[in-house]
Amino acid sequence: MATHQNELTKPRSPSYDLTGKRVVVVGGKTGIGLGIAQAAHAAGASVTVASRRSAHSADHPDLAPFEQIRLDIGDEEAVRGAFDAIGALDHLVVAAGPTDGSWGTFMDDDMRGVRSYANSKFLGSWACVRYATPRLPPDGSITFLTGGIAARPKVGMTSVTSTFAAVEALGRSLALELGPIRVNTIRPGFIDTDFWTILSEADAAAVREKVRARFPARRLGQPGDVGHAAVFLMTNPYVTGTVLDVTGGEHLVDWAF
Ligand SMILES: NC(=O)c1ccc[n+]([C@@H]2O[C@H](COP(=O)([O-])OP(=O)(O)OC[C@H]3O[C@@H](n4cnc5c(N)ncnc54)[C@H](OP(=O)(O)O)[C@@H]3O)[C@@H](O)[C@H]2O)c1
Repeated sequence: MATHQNELTKPRSPSYDLTGKRVVVVGGKTGIGLGIAQAAHAAGASVTVASRRSAHSADHPDLAPFEQIRLDIGDEEAVRGAFDAIGALDHLVVAAGPTDGSWGTFMDDDMRGVRSYANSKFLGSWACVRYATPRLPPDGSITFLTGGIAARPKVGMTSVTSTFAAVEALGRSLALELGPIRVNTIRPGFIDTDFWTILSEADAAAVREKVRARFPARRLGQPGDVGHAAVFLMTNPYVTGTVLDVTGGEHLVDWAF
């Protein structure tokens, strides 16, 4: 009986360890992105967070463990400059996206809303990967962030649905083009962040109630739930070209916000 197993068949214990790795989370100073930055840091990574705001750690102790960079991903030259300054990294997560309702509707008088939304979310995600890729190692990874609306459109949010679907297609395409670097997308369901201040307090409370009552997980999603999934995608060496639902089962039930 063979006493040695070869490299291919040797069982490996799965590890979520990111010790010694550098993770960049674009859109990592708030909400879901911050949850991802915190999960990566807890797994041992050194983490850089990038977005437009400049947040002082004294006022935002949550950000103290991270290197901070100011970046507007809608500005290609700024993205190029930011990744020149960042240098080598192991894992990139692009969680940023406009959440201020400025995406417009299909029958608006002009196409400013969709142009600006797609420029930021789709072309901004594209630009981040374009300028990060030369600095990623072969065992590195890229993770995009979309949302359930990519698969289940909502009246009035055509630009968000279309842009998210384009980001997911970009992820699949880049998994082929950039392999062995792995490229995946996380598609969250309801996550309890400041995003929901887009609704009135009463409407937001009603949404939370519906989530608790109808989602199979029977609770509100938290940024850390997405953070956990992101660390999985960074560390699992054989997952690429996927869209991972982190929804508490939202995609299985009938609900609308
Ligand atoms: N919360 C949910 O239930 C949910 C569900 C599905 C999908 N999503 C999606 O998940 C993403 C994150 O949402 P969130 O809930 O975490 O809300 P959030 O806290 O408002 O996150 C949005 C982040 O994107 C950054 N950002 C926006 N425009 C940017 C730009 N041009 N350049 C660089 N950074 C930019 C913001 O930082 P600065 O303001 O500092 O630039 C902010 O950190 C969004 O795309 C959202 O549509 C959210």
